[in-house]
Amino acid sequence: MKTYIIGNWKMNFTVGESSLFLNKLLQKVHAYRDIEVVVSPSLMAIQSLSLQTDRRKIKLCAQNCYHRDFGAYTGEVSVTQLRALVDYVIVGHSERRYIFNESDKDIRSKVSAIIRNGLTPILCVGETESERTFGETADVLRDQVLGGLSEVSAEDISKVIIAYEPVWAISGHDKAARVASPLDVQDAFKLIRSVLKETYGKTTAEETALLFGGSVKSTNAESYLLLDDCNGLLIGGASLIAPEFTDIIEIAKRVKDANA
Ligand code: 13P
Repeated sequence: MKTYIIGNWKMNFTVGESSLFLNKLLQKVHAYRDIEVVVSPSLMAIQSLSLQTDRRKIKLCAQNCYHRDFGAYTGEVSVTQLRALVDYVIVGHSERRYIFNESDKDIRSKVSAIIRNGLTPILCVGETESERTFGETADVLRDQVLGGLSEVSAEDISKVIIAYEPVWAISGHDKAARVASPLDVQDAFKLIRSVLKETYGKTTAEETALLFGGSVKSTNAESYLLLDDCNGLLIGGASLIAPEFTDIIEIAKRVKDANA
């Protein structure tokens, strides 16, 4: 399986800044066959960046979508409209769940729309600080994984990438965000794989990519990438700093080569 290094730019950079930043990345990023580099710019910039990017080096991802294909849904953008521009769509990010009140029902409709349109969903799951304190992590992860996937047919499950992003480790939310230990992440990955195995079988569980996200930087990326179950990283703040992001790509390549 490839290693995914995905930068979520969230609501940062103007269209012009996005273009300059992508240009900088394209000059530095090598096209490695076993490393999939993806950036997720603001919706505003996606059209122009889709013309600018070299998809062998950097693919594009949308940060959100609506589940209907067309119609009277003011302010929304459908996967059908995104289809020619991006390869991936993030869905269920905690900022969408908690700031915009997205439910598992909204999320599962989006996941199935993304698959129906031939793109890859990156389904984010993760517990909050208080859920963790009250020992609810396993239940939350199970509910979010099964809740997000329940409209996907068994043969399509492994097309979904699952990103474990504990809310307490995401830097933008909380100035006091903590850094997750590799052990915390490994435990969550094991749990997610066992939920997938119980529900969809061993092969699907092994073929589904699991990413980690939450305060990932060039200084800690390797500790997560070395975990057995880790197939990549979803990076917020550090993906807005070109040398940080490109260093993480090189670290991923080194880890991949060492394990080959
Ligand atoms: P940070 O890397 O800024 O903590 O953000 C993680 C994230 O939410 C990526 O989707």
